[in-house]
Amino acid sequence: MCGILGCIGVEDAAQVLHDGLKRLEYRGYDSAGIAVAHEGDIQVDKTAGRVEAIEPTHIPHSTFGLAHTRWATHGEPNEANAHPHTDCAGRIAIAHNGIIENHDELRQQLRQDGHAFTSTTDTEVIAHLIEDAYQATGDLGQALRQARHRLEGSYAILAVHADEPNLVVGTRHESPLVVGIDDGALYLASDIVAFREHTDRVVHLEDGDLVRLTPQGLIVDGQRTEPVQAEQVAWDLEDATKAGFPHFMLKEMHEQPRALREALTGRTQPGSIELNDGDTPTCSPSNETARDRGIDLAQVADHDQLIFIACGSSYNAALAAAHEFEQLAGIEARVERASEYEPNPWQTDRAAVVAVTQSGETADTLRALEAAKQAGFTTLAVTNTNGSTATRTAHGWVPIRAGPEISVAATKTFASQLAVLHNLAAHLAHLRGFTPDPRVREELDHLQDVPTQVQATLDEAGPANAVGQRLADHDRCFVLGSGPNHPLAEEIALKIKEISYVHAEAFPAGELKHGPLALVEEGTPVLALAPRTAEDPEAMISSMSEVAARGADVIAITDEPQPIEERGFQTVPVASKTEAGFVYSALVQGQRIAYQCAVERGCNVDKPRNLAKSVTVE
Ligand code: G6P
Repeated sequence: MCGILGCIGVEDAAQVLHDGLKRLEYRGYDSAGIAVAHEGDIQVDKTAGRVEAIEPTHIPHSTFGLAHTRWATHGEPNEANAHPHTDCAGRIAIAHNGIIENHDELRQQLRQDGHAFTSTTDTEVIAHLIEDAYQATGDLGQALRQARHRLEGSYAILAVHADEPNLVVGTRHESPLVVGIDDGALYLASDIVAFREHTDRVVHLEDGDLVRLTPQGLIVDGQRTEPVQAEQVAWDLEDATKAGFPHFMLKEMHEQPRALREALTGRTQPGSIELNDGDTPTCSPSNETARDRGIDLAQVADHDQLIFIACGSSYNAALAAAHEFEQLAGIEARVERASEYEPNPWQTDRAAVVAVTQSGETADTLRALEAAKQAGFTTLAVTNTNGSTATRTAHGWVPIRAGPEISVAATKTFASQLAVLHNLAAHLAHLRGFTPDPRVREELDHLQDVPTQVQATLDEAGPANAVGQRLADHDRCFVLGSGPNHPLAEEIALKIKEISYVHAEAFPAGELKHGPLALVEEGTPVLALAPRTAEDPEAMISSMSEVAARGADVIAITDEPQPIEERGFQTVPVASKTEAGFVYSALVQGQRIAYQCAVERGCNVDKPRNLAKSVTVE
């Protein structure tokens, strides 16, 4: 849960690293540090707190170095524990993202060998292991390779040595690392956003790769079956900036119509979804994973059950889509929390496993995906990040094409995942011949209308903003949603919790009277998802009346306000024509309520406390 960045061949390493760290702060921001090589020494500047506290102009001039923004897992977030960490002599500096599980044992051995430690992190052992290995080999790349063999856990590591001018080395195992290639300069980071302002040419590294960056170029040693190839990034830097919005979250909410169009463009004809976006992977994975590529959607459609594995908002997206797979495609859909998932090998013939993960790097989801694959399941990844570990692990992948999402709270990636999953359900229905074609066609046509409806809903921000402001005075609230809208209620409650710290709980409306009603007091805010197309719209109105009778402040998010307002309830209107369309538009209003509530409460909207966007440790 950290961000790392290295660079070489740049004019001012401190400034490049500082700028890049600011863009990586969504991965963690409780301490930061920069190390550069200068006149045969390594100069390290660290701070407990945000990278802004480091002044790049106070760092000596250099053309290469490395940097880190931390989200503490081992050792409290103070200056001593901030990366980069150094060896005993202060000649080697390293930055690490991940967790070293055997750090206690390694620390003991290293202490016995005379190494002195200055932090309580798991990471520092790496610097000392490299120190020993460097003494034996005199080669930083070799030293990193040897150190790596002693590490257990997950890691992406960067290292520099004062005696090796013009060299940055890196390696990865179950943590992301990507190279950026510019004319005369190279970058190495956890995420492309760290260097996107300099280049759009990237190489995604694979587990086991060892990379050496020099001003002359890039050398990748690994067990690849195909040569390393650079890929072009499909998004601009502007996509990763606030572009005039006060927060990334608000900007990303407003990008939903475009993201939804991108997600669906060219894919609404039956048969038009191709796995791997029609490409064979350019950096194909080493060893056995490469051989298994080349499945098509028909092979997925052969299964009677889909097991979705996901975390957080991606879990809610899978829950929301499960209904479509069952109703439209006749495929039983189970949704499992990736952190809890254990594959049942008896199911491999009838079930395929689908990992839903916007980052493609969530450790819990990757563990579950790998376990499913090892158990013999056909696996698929639905992700926003081409080249991520999920796309390299699964037998096939479907990109959601939402563009970079910086705010910790998922917004546009949730909407795009949902759209792609809905679309996928319709495609599988077609392939299975399960639903008569007109119904599949109708479903796909409705999906095409969704971006326009979402735009119309975004344009009607007033009522949702007012509700958000009202909610800010409360410590807890409830969100009611039934049938296909219950997962949506879960997602809205998650958004409220994550960014405003108001305790929000979602319930199916019918469950209220079986317990949660006891929690309703005078003035308790209750948001109710009340679509016109519900099987029984009156049932939701009854539930609303039930809580209102106990004093709740009930607000309906609805595409048919009139009959609800006539009963005396306040409404937040949404534009939609269909059952599926309602989910997307109501989502936007729920996000808006959460956003406004967080702003009103003075919360750090884009970087909520205790949370990181990409949780790359289990
Ligand atoms: C973290 C984030 C959530 C996100 C979840 C899954 O917990 O804070 O916003 O939904 O990870 O992320 P993924 O990248 O796998 O979709």
